[in-house]
Amino acid sequence: MRRGTATLLFGCHQFILHPIYVARAWQRLYGRPGPGDLMAIIVHDWGYLGRRDVDGPEGLHHAWRVAVILDALGLHRLARLVEGHSRAWCAAAGIERSRLYAADKLGTALMPSGLWARLARWTGEIEEYQARRDNNGSMNPDPVAWHGRIYRPAAMQAFA
Ligand SMILES: [Fe+2]
Ligand SMILES: [Fe+2]
Repeated sequence: MRRGTATLLFGCHQFILHPIYVARAWQRLYGRPGPGDLMAIIVHDWGYLGRRDVDGPEGLHHAWRVAVILDALGLHRLARLVEGHSRAWCAAAGIERSRLYAADKLGTALMPSGLWARLARWTGEIEEYQARRDNNGSMNPDPVAWHGRIYRPAAMQAFA
């Protein structure tokens, strides 16, 4: 199974768990999410489906893949929310980050560290995150293995 599919099924972007934590983060940051916000929170990482990596060249487009579909459905506000959640994609495409960016990162930090690490090991995502951290995050400016006790940068501590 490709890693992009694995992360959605039983990894760090598990399609039920991850949105629950992102929704809780959104509530903490901005108040109760509206129906559109919730829809964006639920679908924002579905672009990983079928991708060979999560944090590499294929995973880079995961936000854009979902945004294209939302745009085609006429859901332009949600498309911008989703597209702007990925720091790497925003940097690559030269676009602004959206409110979903901070909620996504805080949501990941809200997941218990032990659970996050177990999911990351199941799917092998931990290797990608570790590699990214070891080469100082060439694609992604922040160290990616920042979760919980593994590594939590000052920006996340401010949210906690
Ligand atoms: Fe994402
Ligand atoms: Fe996410």
